[in-house]
Amino acid sequence: MSRLQTESVTPKIREVGLEEVVPAALIGVPPAEVEVDVPDALPRVRVDAGLLERAVANVLQNAVRHSPAGGPPVRVAASAHEGAVELRIVDHGPGVDDEYKERIFEAFQRLGDAPRGTGIGLGLAVARGFAEAMDGGLAAEDTPGGGLTMVFTLRSAARPGAGPEPETEDA
Ligand SMILES: Nc1ncnc2c1ncn2[C@@H]1O[C@H](COP(=O)(O)OP(=O)(O)OP(=O)(O)O)[C@@H](O)[C@H]1O
Ligand SMILES: [Mg+2]
Repeated sequence: MSRLQTESVTPKIREVGLEEVVPAALIGVPPAEVEVDVPDALPRVRVDAGLLERAVANVLQNAVRHSPAGGPPVRVAASAHEGAVELRIVDHGPGVDDEYKERIFEAFQRLGDAPRGTGIGLGLAVARGFAEAMDGGLAAEDTPGGGLTMVFTLRSAARPGAGPEPETEDA
């Protein structure tokens, strides 16, 4: 994946609102299976919208696939932090043990519970590669009460301590 991050992919970084990117990543996911909380007041992020959309879609598809039928929906929630915006994809499935929380990001790594024929184990390697190519990150955490929470860290367009960006400013 290092070639993917450093050589083959040259991201086109722009300032975009997550409300532009997240809906595109939801295409194909049944609306009842996902709940989106992206506040309007969130600062914009410095990303390649196409790469972020693909990365979020990969993570979201995993979350939906691992969610128990009839259980709570997958939650997609964004929040602002110093210099960064976090996008969390929270599921209530079986989760991933601590010893595998890094390994799942390696190409072709699938845990023993993964049903045959459902994928090849590239989705998370690609998602992290894209996040890092945009100077961001992707990490796995436990969902409180059970499940997996995937956290994208994205560069915020808002400077720390600065007021809101002017609406007219173009990247
Ligand atoms: N939300 C999740 N809950 C539990 N396990 C997960 C979750 N997301 C990923 N995993 C585990 O991590 C492995 C790697 O995920 P990844 O998306 O890279 O591959 P995949 O989904 O198996 O195949 P592909 O994405 O290439 O179709 C999965 O096979 C699964 O074992
Ligand atoms: Mg996958």
